[in-house]
Amino acid sequence: MSAPRRTILTGDRPTGPLHLGHYAGALANRVKLQHTYHTFILIADLQALTDNAERPELVRQSVWDVLIDNLAVGLDPARVTFVLQSGVPELAELTQVYLNLVTVSRLQRNPTVKEEMRARGFAANVPAGFLCYPVSQAADITGFEAHLVPVGEDQVPVVEQTREVVRRFNQLYGETLVMPKAMTPETGARLPGTDGKAKMSASAGNAINLGDSPEVVHDKVMGMYTDPARERATDPGRVEGNPVFSYLDAFDPDARGVEELKSRYRAGRVGDVAVKQHLAAVLEDFLEPVRQRRSSWDQRPDELREILAAGTERGRAVVKATLGKVLAAIGLPDVAAMMKTH
Ligand code: TRP
Repeated sequence: MSAPRRTILTGDRPTGPLHLGHYAGALANRVKLQHTYHTFILIADLQALTDNAERPELVRQSVWDVLIDNLAVGLDPARVTFVLQSGVPELAELTQVYLNLVTVSRLQRNPTVKEEMRARGFAANVPAGFLCYPVSQAADITGFEAHLVPVGEDQVPVVEQTREVVRRFNQLYGETLVMPKAMTPETGARLPGTDGKAKMSASAGNAINLGDSPEVVHDKVMGMYTDPARERATDPGRVEGNPVFSYLDAFDPDARGVEELKSRYRAGRVGDVAVKQHLAAVLEDFLEPVRQRRSSWDQRPDELREILAAGTERGRAVVKATLGKVLAAIGLPDVAAMMKTH
């Protein structure tokens, strides 16, 4: 007999369509891991609302975008369980329990939260829900009893905070919660933006979306930032910090060819336009099948609803059981049990 399969929980905030950065940082890994692990993918609509309270229609629409993007890159609905966060109210109850185990100053020192607050210009006016999202994420991770949490580099401090909650809970109330571990992709963890900035993001306007049309992808690639010091194709070019090459590293299956192109670029023997045209072709090879799966799912909204509804129901049963253990460990009176013997 083999050991029971270990559990993975990972999540997306539905705040817009997913892009190549999401793919390189998280989705590619998920597609591989679905074969080895019991996988839950949480569409974290309540977390998305923590900085989008005024844009509920964006969150509602993005739930479907995110589901379709996951399916389009190759996640198999027969293997993975898609769960809608707001469909599992027990997560909110776990959050309330965990909020007592975390201090406000610790949340303010969380490097991810700090950076996200800076990017959103929140300062002292941060919504309390946003400041506390790592606690709600601790509920997500522990609620599903996840052993592993595949995330991009930037989410590691959030998983670290979950580990602190688990440690503290188990210390106070006895061994109850599963200790999770973050799992980051080995290569190409962080894709830069088309403008060369450190991170691809929708809000920075430097993203290539998984659902972009061939024309849009082509235009975005041809407009990419390269080596600003290079004026002619015969000038030696810089490969480091050049996003065109970062994308080739992440998406061109011909690694040897990429190395060759890099040395020609460094030597001033290939122009920016030629390199970009090659990249556009590489991305098309990757995106075309994704686009086809995407449009086929687009035509089956009933199936999408069924996937999300059935997955949420299965996920909810797991989280309910965890909440039962948590309340029992704390030792609060168990009303459900009282009703049974009544
Ligand atoms: N915070 C994650 C992000 O922004 C999304 C998320 C929500 C998540 N719940 C999760 C990730 C649970 C891993 C596990 O990408």
